Amino acid sequence: MSLKTRFGLVIGAMVLFVVAATTGILYWTEKSFLAREAMERQETALAALSQVARESHLSQDDLMLINYVLSLPAKDPDILFAYVAAPDAKGVPQVLAHTIKDLSGVPLSTLPPSPPGSRVLRETVPQRPDAAAEAVLAVSQEKVAASVEASLSRTRKRIAGVTGVMVLLGLTASTALAISLTRPISRLAQGAGLLGQGKLGTRIPAEGSDEIAQLSREFNNMAHRLEKLDEMKKDFVSSVTHELKSPLAAIDSTLELILHESKKERDPSKWLEDVAAIRNHTGRLSRFVTDLLDLAKIEKGAFSIQRADLDVAETAREVTAFLSPLADKNGVSLRGPKDGAGLPRAFADSERVRQVFINLVSNALKFTPKGGTVSVEIAKSDNRLLCSVSDTGIGIKPEDLGRIFDKFEQVREARSAAQGPKGTGLGLSICKAIVEAHDGRIWAESEPGKGSKFCFTLPGGKA
Ligand SMILES: Nc1ncnc2c1ncn2[C@@H]1O[C@H](COP(=O)(O)OP(=O)(O)OP(=O)(O)O)[C@@H](O)[C@H]1O
Ligand SMILES: [Mg+2]
Repeated sequence: MSLKTRFGLVIGAMVLFVVAATTGILYWTEKSFLAREAMERQETALAALSQVARESHLSQDDLMLINYVLSLPAKDPDILFAYVAAPDAKGVPQVLAHTIKDLSGVPLSTLPPSPPGSRVLRETVPQRPDAAAEAVLAVSQEKVAASVEASLSRTRKRIAGVTGVMVLLGLTASTALAISLTRPISRLAQGAGLLGQGKLGTRIPAEGSDEIAQLSREFNNMAHRLEKLDEMKKDFVSSVTHELKSPLAAIDSTLELILHESKKERDPSKWLEDVAAIRNHTGRLSRFVTDLLDLAKIEKGAFSIQRADLDVAETAREVTAFLSPLADKNGVSLRGPKDGAGLPRAFADSERVRQVFINLVSNALKFTPKGGTVSVEIAKSDNRLLCSVSDTGIGIKPEDLGRIFDKFEQVREARSAAQGPKGTGLGLSICKAIVEAHDGRIWAESEPGKGSKFCFTLPGGKA
């Protein structure tokens, strides 16, 4: 059974139950109200009769009482008979007034007995200190029940009409509610199905603030992340292919040239140039493979460092010296740190710290146009060392600053502006893993169009 049918049935059954209970209570209340009202009416009639008897005695006006009693059956059709009796001078009870005209003035004992099924109400009316009259009123139970039943039958018709309308409205509302509750769930199911088929651009409407709208928003966020991951995977595969293919192609063409020219007379400096070029490309390949191995270690949680006493300024100078040919080639001025005198030494892994500097300085050179400057600085900050690599390059937008330290993340526009190999987006995530393994922190500050500054801290060792 579908969720919609189940919702509809449950809500419909609840509506029917509420309507049935409400109308049942209404009917029962109305019935007891009518019965109580009939009894109260009879008691009020008896009280009025007693009052008239009292007034006619006080005013010595028997006619007033007789006329009043005679008019009673016309006022209330439920009344079978009514009379007022009082003892005469000899103390024998006489009927003063009766609804049957002929029975007024006869001795009380001559009155016929009350018919069966009648309700007789009596009230004493004090007249003299030693004598009292009695007002008597009899109603037909059958007639009372019939008039209550007639009113109830009208009530039943009214209730049936209202119930019909309420049930119709309730069932329509329950169906509408069931549809409105299940439609977003069906949309989610359809969306999940499309995502499963690989249509990662699928999004579903998520208006409102209820739980289902929240779930829909989460679904859209998930689809967005999956789409981004897919894009990153595609970019990564094409970057990896490029990173492997371009140095291999360069090595291949250099070797082919060497083979071709091997039998000819050749300038020895040309040999050196070619071998240096091949070494440069194998170095690039080897750095790329090292990055991939590092990534695998980080993913496995097996990334470790070997700490020792280290002169960080010296390491930074070695790196700037190593990368200065590249800086010259790009037409960028590369400045190493000032003399490290007065700086504390670090307690860190020298190879890994060198790797961080190489990554940061390579990035700075890659994203700084000709004529720019890249400088490395080391300073003391409390008992730590604060290292920074600043450039006057293209800069990074604030919204990209947070994500560039994640693996495979590259700023798309920056790729086209890069000088030399585009890379794969692994460098900064490896730097982050290295710095954090040293209990340090790495971050970037940047102003688009003006330049960037990458900073990281390292624990201090001996002064
Ligand atoms: N100095 C910088 N100036 C401007 N953008 C930078 C700078 N350094 C890094 N970025 C941005 O951060 C991205 C990620 O850098 P990261 O070093 O992780 O990867 P990559 O240099 O693209 O590739 P890889 O380091 O794997 O060769 C870069 O692609 C670039 O968009
Ligand atoms: Mg890099």
